[in-house]
Parts: sequence; structure tokens; C-alpha cells
Amino acid sequence: CLFQSSHQSVRMMAALDVQVGSVRQQVAKLVKESLNATVPEVADVEPLVSACNNAKNGDYQCNNAMGIWAKIKGKDARFKNPNAIGQELARNLPESAVVESTSVAGPGFLNVVLSTLWIEQKIHQMLKHGVSCWAPVLTVERAVVDFSSPNIAKEMHVGHLRSTIIGDSIASMLEYCNVTVLRRNHVGDWGTQFGMLIEYLFEEFPNWEEIQEQAIGDLQVFYKKAKAKFDADPEFKKRSQKAVVSLQGGEEKYVLAWRQICNISRREFNVVYERLHVTLEEKGESFYHPYIAGVLKELEEKNLIEESEGARVITVPGHTIPLLVVKGDGGFNYASTDLSALWYRLNEEAAQWIIYVTDVGQSQHFDMFFKAAKRAGWLPEDESKYPKVKHVGFGLVLGTDGKRFRTRSSEVVRLVDLLDEAKSRSKQGLVDRGREGEWTPEELEDASEALGYGAIKYADLKNNRTTNYTFNFDQMLDIRGNTAVYLLYAHARICSIIRKSGKDIEELKQTGTLKLSHPSERQLGLQLVRFGEFVEDALTDLLPNTLCEYLYSLSGMFTEFYTICKVINSEEETSRLLLCEATATIMRECFKLLGITPLYRL
Ligand code: ARG
Repeated sequence: CLFQSSHQSVRMMAALDVQVGSVRQQVAKLVKESLNATVPEVADVEPLVSACNNAKNGDYQCNNAMGIWAKIKGKDARFKNPNAIGQELARNLPESAVVESTSVAGPGFLNVVLSTLWIEQKIHQMLKHGVSCWAPVLTVERAVVDFSSPNIAKEMHVGHLRSTIIGDSIASMLEYCNVTVLRRNHVGDWGTQFGMLIEYLFEEFPNWEEIQEQAIGDLQVFYKKAKAKFDADPEFKKRSQKAVVSLQGGEEKYVLAWRQICNISRREFNVVYERLHVTLEEKGESFYHPYIAGVLKELEEKNLIEESEGARVITVPGHTIPLLVVKGDGGFNYASTDLSALWYRLNEEAAQWIIYVTDVGQSQHFDMFFKAAKRAGWLPEDESKYPKVKHVGFGLVLGTDGKRFRTRSSEVVRLVDLLDEAKSRSKQGLVDRGREGEWTPEELEDASEALGYGAIKYADLKNNRTTNYTFNFDQMLDIRGNTAVYLLYAHARICSIIRKSGKDIEELKQTGTLKLSHPSERQLGLQLVRFGEFVEDALTDLLPNTLCEYLYSLSGMFTEFYTICKVINSEEETSRLLLCEATATIMRECFKLLGITPLYRL
């Protein structure tokens, strides 16, 4: 069975008697039982449970009463109005350690106050068994996240950086929820431009087989020169076009040259991935090339492919132009590759959810080929059913001038230069704070990287991805605002409180008790146990900014607690140290899901 491992881990957690799922899911389970008891005649009502907007009303609310009222109005003599349904839902809520009390407001809103004792136990469980026991339960078990995906010999630009950062975070959140994730780098390593690159390689480096790949130098410069020659020299152009045919025919010399060019790019990409600690597996466009003919044959047999001006196309609903799948010259394109990749992911990789992270500029392409796949019967008409596909689009990266982010000489910004600058600015900040003398050079390097790269990632992730965002070093490295730097400092401060207490926190986890006595403690505790549902929400809309908002407000609630409640040398010291540790643990998990390296002292 493909999914055994994830089932096993769920079972193991059950054996530990740790409840599985987010708090909201646990409340929803109770509401579901109550719904079954209250209105058994209405089948399949999904429990509508959300956090209360106003903490005065309670912690969670159930909004089912009005919808049910609309269905049973006049048919069920027991209920005169929606409020009566709410009352009955409250009465039928099963006895549970989760719930402290309930109340019904207005047109039947059922408010639930969680048991503080239960919250305390939940936090203690998490401290003992790890954050995995708070993971929401998702219906998906296997997903592909197609992200980063730069193009060989072309520059890896800030758009690819956004894709890398957003895709990595989505993949990590899914992994946290026990989903098997295939992290796919769909690099553009195929296409007609390779004819020109290979021909240029042969001409400029006659001994290309012996030379080190480094000798070729900067591939972007190489690309520009090849392109210039291609445009200026008709003979070269002809040879390039023939080279494409030789490459696609699998002629060894051409395949070797192609591979050498790909290797140079790959090395450059990997530098960025390593620095950002992003893992992903390359299955580039070329990988799917052998599948294209078969896939097109299937689509042909299903009568989906038509002739249009010498090319072969698929018409899709809602678009005036059809999807081009074979060009006039018989060559394949981006869409034929993507259709084949989708076929492969569905059939060979058994993926249930396939997520594509690119700029919004490509939405039309995705919408069209998704619709073609639907016409082929690969995807269900009902989009709530698996397998599902989703284009996760994002906006542009802008410079502080409001225009597309470029260097001063209006060149595309090299990603390593960006990373270098973020790191060196962070380092300077640490040096200014006198850390150079206190830390080893290695510690200084590590902290500079965590701050600098963390700042870039967080500045990107904290925005709703669909909007454009402005790249601004001063802003993202500000220690005060909603930045990774601020959050990393906040985390380090909590760690230092625990250190200063001189207590062995691991021992306290085993022997101590956690009590949420003060309102600011309960507020913080509640925010902690709600972690899982924010991950769930972030994944429902595939919006990592949801998790950033959670983290930022968690940090704010900690500050509130710490301002009001004395920790060290107070009567509640043990309990409050455990609350500090729980906060630091959840902050670290957020960092992990956002791709940020935590720092323990700053
Ligand atoms: N290489 C493409 C680009 O740079 C992104 C590929 C995205 N993935 C996909 N399956 N089309 O724009």
C-alpha cells in the first residue's frame, strides 16, 4: 500500500493517547455528533466551526443553526426559530473534556468556551511528545509541489526566488500534516534554444568535451552571445535548427553537449538552494519528453485534438484561443510538456493534489491546460474531488521605485548578490551590537545568514502572495516591524529567559505542571493550541501569509504576557517557564514551516 507510512504514524500517535488533529477539528467532531443527534433528518451537514471574533463570546463558535433552519423551517415542530436549533445543538453536544461551557446567541450561534485544564494538558502533551501531535488531519496523502523551476541558461530571477520561497513553505506545511510531498523542480531544460546553445558551444569551444564546465563561464553571457549570433548569421541559425533535430533524435554528441550546458546551470541553481536550505528534486521538462507522443495519442483518440492553421490544438471552454499542443513545425511546447507531466504525476506518481507555484502571469496557461485535462477525463468535473490541481500564482517583485525590481543598470538582479547583501547587512548589524567580540567567527556567520535569508523569506511570505511586493532591505531588516529579524530576536529572548532561570527545562517538562492562571496566560495558551488550525487555513487557501500572521500575533501575545507576568523567581516560575518553552517551540515550528533558521541567542 502506497500510503502505509502516513497511516502508521497516525496510529502510533493514537497509541500514545495523544489526540490527533487541530483544536478546531476536535470541536467540529463534537458538533458533528450533536448535529446527528439534533437533526438526524438532515443528512451530511458539515459542522461550521470557527474561532470567535470576539473573545468575550467564547473561544469557538458553531454557525450551523441558520443553515439548518433554512432547510427544516416549518417541517420540524420542535423548532420555532434558529435560536431553538442552537439551543438544542448546545444540549446535544457530547460530554467532553474539551469544553468548559457553551452559550447560544442571537439567531442560534453556539459559542464554546474551551476548558482551560484541557488547554493546559494539550500544551503539556505537545511539550512531551513534540509538535507533530498538533498537526491537522488532511484528506490528501500524496501531493506534488512544482516550484522554483528556473530555466537553463537563462537567469534565475526574483520571480523564481518567490516561487522557491513560497513553494518550499507550502511543501513544508503539507509535510507537517503527514502528507507525502514530491518537491519538483520543473526546470526548463528543453526547447529550441538548445540548438543554438549547442552549436555555439561547438564553435567557441572546439575542445568542449575536455574542458571543465567552469571554462564556459557565465551561461547568461553565453546565452546572449549565442542569441546574437543566431539573429545575425543565417547560416548559424540553420545549423542551430538542425542541432535541435539531432538533439531530439538522441544523437550522442548533441545529448552530451546539452548535458554539459545543463550541468553549468544546475550548479548555479544549487548554490541558491543550498544557501536557502531548500530541498527539491529536479525532474525537468526533458524528463517528460518521452511521454509526450503517448499522451498526445491518448488525447487524439479521445477526439480532443484539432487542426488549426497547421498546428494542433485543443479547444477549452471559456477561452477564445485554443491550447496549442503541437506547433506548426511539429515541435512540442510548454503545454505539451505540462500535459505529459500532469499525466505522469497522476498515473506514475499517484499524486492526489498537484500544486504549481509560478507568477500570476502564467494563470492563463494553467487554466487552459487544466481544462484540457478535465476534457480528457483526467480530472473530475467536481473540483472538490481528488485528484486536484491548483495554480498558486504570485505577484511581481518591485523595487523601491515601484517598478520591476532591477539593478541600477537595469539588469536582472542576480540572486546570489541579493543573498550576499542581506547577509552582509545583517552581519554589520550584529557587529554594531558588539557581537564580533563575543561570538566565534562561525557563530557570527551563521547568525548573519539566518537573519539575512530569514528576512528575505519572511518579507516575501508575509504578503498575500497574489499581490506585488516591494523588495526593501531597510524594511525587511528592521528589528522593530513585522520582520523575521524582530521575530528571531523575540524567540532568542524567550530562550534567554529560560537560560537565565538556571532550570533544566527538559526536566521541568517531565516533573512540572503548567497552569494558565492569568488572562494573558490563557490568551497565549489558546493561541498556542490553535497552531494546527492556522496551518490548516494556510493550506486551504495555499496562503503562507496566514501562518506569518499567526506567528506575529503569537509573538505579540507573548510580549503581553511577559510584560504583565513575572516569570523568574515568581511563585508560578515552573509553570511560566513551561509556557515560555511552549511558545519558543511553536515559534520554531513556524520558522521551520517558513524556511527560517531559528536563533537561540542574539
Ligand atoms: N520554467 C517556468 C518559468 O520559468 C516555470 C515552470 C513551472 N512549472 C510548470 N509545470 N509549468 O516560468
